Amino acid sequence: MDLKSLIRDIPDFPKPGILFRDITTLLRDPEGLRYTIDFFTEKCIESGLQADYIVGMESRGFIFGPPLAYKLGAGFIPVRKRGKLPAAVHSIEYELEYGTDCLEMHQDALHSNSRVLIVDDLIATGGTASATAKLVQKFGCELVGFGFIIELQDLQGRKNLPDVPIISLIEY
Ligand code: PRP
Ligand code: ADE
Repeated sequence: MDLKSLIRDIPDFPKPGILFRDITTLLRDPEGLRYTIDFFTEKCIESGLQADYIVGMESRGFIFGPPLAYKLGAGFIPVRKRGKLPAAVHSIEYELEYGTDCLEMHQDALHSNSRVLIVDDLIATGGTASATAKLVQKFGCELVGFGFIIELQDLQGRKNLPDVPIISLIEY
C-alpha cells in the first residue's frame, strides 16, 4: 500500500518554513490504519525488536504505541509533557524542530530488567526520541530499539540516537 499517498503535507505549520506531515488523513483511512499497524508489527518482529514495554511519547506516540504493544504482547508506558503525570516522575528538557519542551515518565514505570522499545509517529531532529532514550536509561533497563512511522531523513535525527536498531515505515 502507498502510505505516503495517505499523508497530507501542510506547508508553514506550525511555523513558517516547516512542512508538516499530517498523519490524521492516514488514521481516518480504515485500510491504511490497519496496514500501518500490521506493517509496523512485522518490521519490529523481522528486526528482532522484542520488548516487554513500548514507551510512547505524547501525543502522537499514544496513537501508534498501544496498538503495536497489543500486537507484540507488550505493555504500553506513556511519556507525557510537563505536569500531566500524577505520581513521582523523572523529567528531561529537550529541543524540537520548532521549540523546546519537557518530557516526564513515572519513576515506577520501568525496572532494571525491562526491555523497552520507544515508539513515535515521526522522527525529525531526533530531539524527542533522544530525550526519551535518556529518560529510559535512568531506569538502567535495556533499550532494544526505536520505531517510527515517518522519518524526515534530511534532519538526520538518527545521528542523535543511541546505537540500537531504528525502524521507520515511510521516509521523506
Ligand atoms: C512531534 C512528533 C514527534 C516529534 C518529532 O511531536 O510527534 O514526537 O515532534 O520531532 P523531533 O524528532 O525533532 O523531536 P510534537 O512535539 O510536535 O508534539 P505532539 O505529538 O503533541 O504534536
Ligand atoms: N514533528 C516535528 N517535525 C514535524 C513535521 N515536519 N511534521 C509533522 N510532525 C513533526
